[in-house]
Amino acid sequence: MNNKKIIVAIDGFSSSGKSTMARELAKRVGYVYVDSGAMYRAVTLYALRHGMVNADHAVNRKELVAALPSIHVSFQPAGADGVQHTLLNGEDVEKGIRDMQVSALVSPVAEIPEVRERLVDLQKKFGEHKGIVMDGRDIGTTVFPNAELKIFVCASPEERARRRLKEMQEKGENVSYDEVYNNVVERDRIDTTREVSPLRKAADAIELDNGDMTREQQMDRLLSHFDEALKKNCP
Ligand code: CDP
Repeated sequence: MNNKKIIVAIDGFSSSGKSTMARELAKRVGYVYVDSGAMYRAVTLYALRHGMVNADHAVNRKELVAALPSIHVSFQPAGADGVQHTLLNGEDVEKGIRDMQVSALVSPVAEIPEVRERLVDLQKKFGEHKGIVMDGRDIGTTVFPNAELKIFVCASPEERARRRLKEMQEKGENVSYDEVYNNVVERDRIDTTREVSPLRKAADAIELDNGDMTREQQMDRLLSHFDEALKKNCP
């Protein structure tokens, strides 16, 4: 039995299905799953709750950076619903971090170098013992540049907006397709053009276009890449 472990980095555009994919893979192979986007979302929720967003929807960077030492993001292991919950200073904020208000502000927050530095440090600690699947935007490029398996997920913005709309409607959120589509495109723009660790495919990442793949096909593909990486790195 091979008990050596690797790191799996899954990056990609917003609403590309990375989280579902990463969570399922971690479950199948018995690894820890970390949703790095949830961490940026939790910091954004903190800014909203503490009046650090003005009427023009601009984040007060100075105030947020000053507050960083008092913002603690952690995760509670998956409970009965099978979902790992995000904690902000010990409070379960899993639902709050997924709403449109947070989605609209998260990319500007994630552009702030001090925010990234703090969260990236924490993400690196999560991977110290390997055996982890982490998804995000800069996992294969910045957080774990030596990850043994890197996947870059893509699908068209229309397909991604349709998926995200369905997900939000199922949760009872009242949003329109246009609202979701515009958010997806705007976040892609900010995420790919920011100065610090912009979203891009690592040179050694495997590209996975899941536009017309079923969830099962996607998982089969991922599992075969995983087995290959494990064999190559932990012979
Ligand atoms: O689930 P979705 O693809 O909509 O986004 P997410 O993974 O929850 O990430 C929310 C936002 O956090 C992204 O649009 C990025 O602006 C930011 N993020 C980042 O900058 N770096 C990461 N490693 C993960 C997320």
